[in-house]
This record gives sequence, C-alpha cells and structure tokens, in this order.
Amino acid sequence: MKNRIFFLIFMMGFLYPNYFGSMNVQNNHVETEMPGDVNNDGIVDVLDLVQIVNFILDQGSLEVESAGDFNNDGIIDILDIVSIVSCIMGSGPCESVNILEIPQYVTDYHGEMLIPEDNPLSEAGIELGRFLFYDKKLSDDGTQSCASCHLQENGFTDPNQFSEGITGELGGRNAMQIINAAWFSSFFWDGRAESLEAQALGPVVNPVELNTTWSAVEDRVAADPMYPPMFEEVFGSTLIDSTRITKAIAQFERTLISFNSKYDDFFYGDFTGFNESEESGFDIYFSEVGDCIHCHQGPILNDNEFRNNGLDSELTDLGLGEITGDPLDFGKFKVPTLRNIEFTAPYMHDGRFETLDEVVEHYNSGVHEDSPNLDPEMENAAAGLNLTEEQKTDLVNFLKTFSDTTFLSNPAFADPFEEE
Ligand code: HEC
Ligand code: HEC
Repeated sequence: MKNRIFFLIFMMGFLYPNYFGSMNVQNNHVETEMPGDVNNDGIVDVLDLVQIVNFILDQGSLEVESAGDFNNDGIIDILDIVSIVSCIMGSGPCESVNILEIPQYVTDYHGEMLIPEDNPLSEAGIELGRFLFYDKKLSDDGTQSCASCHLQENGFTDPNQFSEGITGELGGRNAMQIINAAWFSSFFWDGRAESLEAQALGPVVNPVELNTTWSAVEDRVAADPMYPPMFEEVFGSTLIDSTRITKAIAQFERTLISFNSKYDDFFYGDFTGFNESEESGFDIYFSEVGDCIHCHQGPILNDNEFRNNGLDSELTDLGLGEITGDPLDFGKFKVPTLRNIEFTAPYMHDGRFETLDEVVEHYNSGVHEDSPNLDPEMENAAAGLNLTEEQKTDLVNFLKTFSDTTFLSNPAFADPFEEE
C-alpha cells in the first residue's frame, strides 16, 4: 500500500487530464483533427453537432470523417452526437480513443515516438501500410500476410507457440506482439533490427515466414491497380520498391498504440479503483516482493533492454549473444511489453508457457540461478519469491489490468480487405 501511494505521488507530477486527441504529434507531421471538432475551429460546440447531423442526414459533408467519429467505432452516428453533447454539457468525458492520441505521461516517461526523419507519418501512409500488412501478395504463394502471424485479437501476436510459414515449416521462436512498438529502439527477441522499417524487410524473404523475394513482391504489388495511386499519394510517385513498402508498413505499425486499460486509468487519475486482489498484485509487482517493475517498467512496461530472466541453465538459444557474439550477451532477450498480456499467450521467446500462472510460477520458484548472465535484477526471484497461492493469483489479476480491449477491436487496425 505504501509503495502504491508513493508511486502515485511520484507519477502525479507527470499527470494532467488529456482532453481531446492531440492535434499533431510533435515532429511527425500528422494533423489529426480533434475528434468532435468537425469544423476544425479548435472547440467542440454546437456548430460541430449541426455538421454531423447534416452529414448523417446525407445533406452535408465532413472534411475529415474521423473527426465526427467521436467514439471511434468506425461509423459516424447518433452515438457520436450523444457523446459530444455530453462533452459540451460537461456531463461526459471529452476524451475519445484516437489512434494517435498519446497520453502525456507516456511521452514524459519514454520520450517521443521514434520516427525516422525520412518516414514521417501521414494518414495516407498509414492506410497504405495497413493494406500491405494484411496483403497476402507479400508471400510466395499468396496464402500469408504479416497478419497471419500477428493477429489483432491477440495483441498482434500468434496464439501458436511457433508460427507456421507458408511452406508449413515452423520457426524457432514465438511471434512477438506489436503494441506501442513506436518507442522500441530494437526489434526481434535478439534485437537484430534497429527500426520497424528494417524489421519489415526480414519476414518477406525468411524461408520459414513469407518465403519470397522482394522483387517478386514489388512486381505483384505494382500489378494491383489499387496500389500505384496510393504510393503516389504517400511518396510522390508511383515507384514501388521494398524501401517504400517497408516504410508504409512501419507507419501503420507505429499507430498500433494501446493506452486504454485500467492500469492507464490509474495514471490518468480518472481512476475507478482496483479491486482488492488487483491492489495486492500491484503491491507485489512494484515492490521487492515481486520485483517486476525493474524490467517491465513505465507506461510501456518495457525498458528497451536485453536481459536474462533465468529460463534455462543450459542455453539452446543465445538471444542477443547470437547477434553480438559477445559471451556476456548469451541468453539475453528483449524485455517484452506486458501490454495486453492476457491475450498474447503463449509466453517467452520460445512460447514455453501457456498461461500467466505458469509465468508467475517461473518467477516464483523456477528461476535457474546458474543461467549464464542471469540479470542482477533477478536476485530476489532466483532466491525464490515464496509467494502464497493467493498472492500468485493477485499478481495475475494485476497483470490483467494491462488489458485494453478497445485496442484488440479497434476498426482502424483491422483487415481493410474485409471492409471492402
Ligand atoms: C510466419 C510468421 C510470421 C510472419 C508471416 C511475420 N512475422 Fe513478424 N514475427 C514473427 C516471429 C516468430 C517474430 C520473432 C522472431 C525473432 O525474434 O527471431 C516476429 C517479430 C516481429 C516484430 C518484432 C517486434 C518487436 O517488438 O521486436 C515485428 C515488428 C514484426 N514481426 C512485424 C512483422 C511484419 C511487418 C511482417 C510482414 C512483413 C511480419 N512480421 C510477418 C512471425 C512472423
Ligand atoms: C531482470 C528483468 C526482469 C524481471 C525482474 C522480470 N522480467 Fe518478465 N521478462 C523479462 C525478459 C527478458 C523476458 C523475456 C525472456 C525470454 O523470452 O527469454 C520476460 C518475459 C515476461 C513475460 C512473457 C511476455 C511475453 O510476451 O512472452 C511475462 C508475462 C513477464 N515477463 C512477467 C513478469 C512478472 C510478472 C515479473 C515479476 C514477478 C517479471 N516479469 C519480472 C525480464 C524480466
């Protein structure tokens, strides 16, 4: 309890209520309109309502349709009007879920999204990337896309321990969730890619993934009449190459933002309360009882580091060490985000644990003290956390406060081919 109050006071310094969507996200050149502010005059008022009503009655137009979609459910309808009216009257929240709404506490803790200078976000680029992410033309036989192994309902990961590539062959690692990846400085369990752009080059040519060549993909994409105009809008010409394809995919991936969980409500101060079990789990997570916070930290629940959490005495996968060749890196893996962890099973780089109970038991009693390069922060766990059954359940219940079901069902992230 004391920890939690301390933590709350600590975080309060960063807090302020985040009304409306952010107008633009610092340097990334996106002008996302305030939801509700249809006429874009800086305030949400009756004039906006009139425009939305006219639009619904088919008598008017909305310049930016998403601006009228206040509740962000993909359609502009009476429910949006109800929400806006209650916002204007002060009886309801003026917040809405906007794909690029980034709470201030996230930026305060983790900094700005990492966006390469030569790939600023744009609405058109994000939309193109979304099509490409879901397009099976990226695989050799047209049966798989990125989304085949990164499923929205599972936090953009694969519910299978190992993913099946198009040849039916299995890879050796569990697919990773793609959530708030815009803040990561390296990618893959072993960190071998340094940007989302570089990361996206890999799966296309990986024999156990999409198993094709970039020139074949470029030809197939260029042959689809839908694409050249989209590339022109985003990049200024109809040239279609791997650089542009991966740039667009990376833009889409940067919008896969999840900050709408009970845990976030706590940060916002708009907090309805943890139940008793979650509260106890909170204390375990943040104190030396469980010690989780050292590595899974901040709003993103990750520290952009590579660490060994003691899964094995003998390493079969060297992780980061595979890439650097440095024996001091053997057994270190990327600290994964715990966002939506309830939905991203199985767990760990090899998907060895099927449930969160198994994960907690690993930290409680299963840490291999003799694992090479065991992280110093694992000291308590290595000695055994000695949690009671009730405490283990509490910890799992707290981990579930990271769940954000609006993320898992956000129509802006869904398969655009199904909409057609
Ligand atoms: C056959 C399954 C499969 C396909 C298809 C696939 N991936 Fe993955 N993805 C994985 C696996 C497995 C990993 C982890 C691999 C590793 O660490 O060695 C991964 C890792 C990633 C990561 C790293 C996330 C992080 O936090 O480091 C990103 C991003 C990603 N994939 C995006 C994509 C994109 C974009 C595509 C399409 C171009 C794609 N994937 C296609 C299985 C797949
Ligand atoms: C020393 C840093 C460290 C500490 C402390 C730590 N973890 Fe982890 N955690 C990791 C690393 C690294 C991985 C990935 C390991 C791998 O796959 O080889 C991981 C993986 C996980 C996963 C699986 C995520 C996924 O996507 O597969 C969960 C869940 C998890 N940790 C929860 C916890 C909880 C709960 C605690 C506290 C009891 C905790 N961790 C403490 C570093 C840490």
